[in-house]
Amino acid sequence: MKFHILTLFPDMVEGGLHTSILGRAAADGHISLEAVNIRDFTVNKHKKVDDYPYGGGAGMLMKAQPVYDAYRYIEEKISEEGRKPPRVIYVTPQGSVFNQQMAQELAGEEDLVFLCGHYEGIDERVLETIVTDYISIGDYVLTGGELPSMVMIDAISRLVPGVLKNKESAEFESFHNNLLEYPQYTRPEIWREKPVPEVLLSGDHARVDQWRLQQSEARTRKRRPDLYEVYAREPKALSWLLKSKIDHMDMIEVIRAGQADILCGDEEGVLLKDVPSGAIMVSASDEDMGERLLSLIPRGLKDGLFVAHQEFLKDSICRRFDAGIVNACVQAAYTRKTLLEEDSRFCIRPLTISFLEEVYSHYHTVHDKEYLEGRIRSGRMYGAFVEETLAGFIGMHAECSMGMLEVFEPFRRQGIGEALERHLINRILKEGRVPFCQIFTDNEASVKLQQKLGLRIGRQTVYWVS
Ligand code: ADE
Repeated sequence: MKFHILTLFPDMVEGGLHTSILGRAAADGHISLEAVNIRDFTVNKHKKVDDYPYGGGAGMLMKAQPVYDAYRYIEEKISEEGRKPPRVIYVTPQGSVFNQQMAQELAGEEDLVFLCGHYEGIDERVLETIVTDYISIGDYVLTGGELPSMVMIDAISRLVPGVLKNKESAEFESFHNNLLEYPQYTRPEIWREKPVPEVLLSGDHARVDQWRLQQSEARTRKRRPDLYEVYAREPKALSWLLKSKIDHMDMIEVIRAGQADILCGDEEGVLLKDVPSGAIMVSASDEDMGERLLSLIPRGLKDGLFVAHQEFLKDSICRRFDAGIVNACVQAAYTRKTLLEEDSRFCIRPLTISFLEEVYSHYHTVHDKEYLEGRIRSGRMYGAFVEETLAGFIGMHAECSMGMLEVFEPFRRQGIGEALERHLINRILKEGRVPFCQIFTDNEASVKLQQKLGLRIGRQTVYWVS
């Protein structure tokens, strides 16, 4: 991850971020930090970066030109190095409030630009030209954007692979799964007559885990009832989804992967957003429940991708969002734990980015190039090689399903597709997850392959609406 900070106070940012864990992460090459001084891009002899606001009012505004030129300097460098234009975050109390989920999402970017304002703000025209995200760190006003940028960079960096060592793991901690962390104790066993809770000395790991979960729940309910309400949606959502497990495996798996924003979890229906892909998934027991769930989605939503688990939901989504393209699928899931036997005739390994053009030229009907690039970079696309020539590929979609299976013409009918799927199923099983996929209802060959590999086929039709 490469952070670029547009600031009037580069020393403040560099000093603050080059120590401790982030300093080590930068030295190890997991992240890089570049503070660009906006003042270096002024074109007047006094290096003046601010001016009076048109229409009057208190204070000074940062001028558009130096901010824009400083940004262009960063953008050109990124482009010369062959990377895509970066997201530009303007840190401002007028933005959406930063949280762990946003940190997680931003941690997947290659470059991030932070624009730090000062004085009374920045000329709106340059913001309209370069900013992609407006983010605040809370409902209070600071004197400038440097501290908020540093807060966000710290929270994002620790989610970048390699930044935290195992013992500092980001997995089980506050906000993982919408729960606050449980209380912790270290030596001595008794301090000022206060003993460490007995269970922690018992050596019984199951009891310790159970105690910690109870403590987390009680603490969250008391201190953060808003968060607890979100946490409590998950078991309710699962109780509905597990009634028809195979048909709902897409929703179940994104919840289990911790990447679902459950907007409504009820024993009669569920509405969730898969955060990495942005797909909205919905399932309901009847039309009334369906309408209640769909009314929670903002009407102005554009470019949405919906997964509807009932026909009445599909119809309602098409009406509400003027959506047109509908793909009817069935779901298939491998619910056993046993690994499949692999076909040793082919060498199957993760694809590197050098294969992007080849993948894109064979597979661009459903997804764009940027999406495929993201999949390859996340290490979730695998190629089958015959004498070092790429013969086909398979991948895991952002929303956890298997797909993107292609075998090139000269290599078809040799079992390469099946070998690829066997390999991917095994990889997913080794991660403790359930392999699943969606099959177009008219693709009989694929249904047969899934059955041969031991996947169970769902009974309901699932509709992909875009
Ligand atoms: N700049 C000033 N106050 C801020 C805040 N609360 N969040 C982000 N940027 C800011």
